[in-house]
Amino acid sequence: MLYGLYTRRLRRQLRGLPVPRHVAIVMDGNRRWARGAGYEDVRIGHRFGANHLEQFLLWCADAGITCVTAWVASADNMRKRDSAEVGYLMELTESVLAAHVRRDHRWRLHVAGRLDLLPDTTARALKEAAELSRDRTAGDLTLAIGYSGRLEVLDAVRSVLDDAAAAGRSLDDVADTLSEQDISSNLYVPGLPDPDLVIRTSGELRMSDFLLWQTTGSDIEFCDLYWPAFREVDLLRALRTYGHRRLERSR
Ligand code: IPE
Ligand code: MG
Repeated sequence: MLYGLYTRRLRRQLRGLPVPRHVAIVMDGNRRWARGAGYEDVRIGHRFGANHLEQFLLWCADAGITCVTAWVASADNMRKRDSAEVGYLMELTESVLAAHVRRDHRWRLHVAGRLDLLPDTTARALKEAAELSRDRTAGDLTLAIGYSGRLEVLDAVRSVLDDAAAAGRSLDDVADTLSEQDISSNLYVPGLPDPDLVIRTSGELRMSDFLLWQTTGSDIEFCDLYWPAFREVDLLRALRTYGHRRLERSR
């Protein structure tokens, strides 16, 4: 009841404020949330976390956000966490995240990251969901999985060099003409606007190699709550802060 009132009040406060086109979310704190809630099995945190993205996407759509990037797992997570945990995260990616994109008609799916780090079934489920959602125009959802910002820039440079080699251009020529646009257009998901707002949950105050190239102008909001506990009011508050900051800067 009170929560409903507060949500409506926040929505009213957002009227007339600039809305970010692109919000990127670092979904952090699943395991701490699970332990804090008394579950020994941290997979419960991951399951809540995966299902929670569905809610988050609804709140974003309601708020008029048309582009969302969600960090599902880093390249480092894939390499360093034990294989049972990674296996479970991949299972959730297939049965919750890709399944949601198939069912929901709003989001066109993009995948950012090294698909070669993922199990074949996960890579296939994501590719199929992306293919199926290709003609949707209401919103763009990028799942960052097997993702590293540094690797993304390296891979982009590699693509530029590969293309130049294929076109028979000399290295001197490439060095002379290499531009920011060359990198931007060779990122994992080219053509999206840069994130206006990055939200990181769980009280960690780091960017951790997320969207390295794309966030030079992004506002960043850190939130102490663990991802599964992040509520619509927390998003609306972040949007209010963002809106005021942008308005201030445009004056
Ligand atoms: C985020 O939760 C999910 C992934 C990074 C895969 P964590 O698993 O990082 O949970 P904490 O941060 O250890 O609590
Ligand atoms: Mg973490």
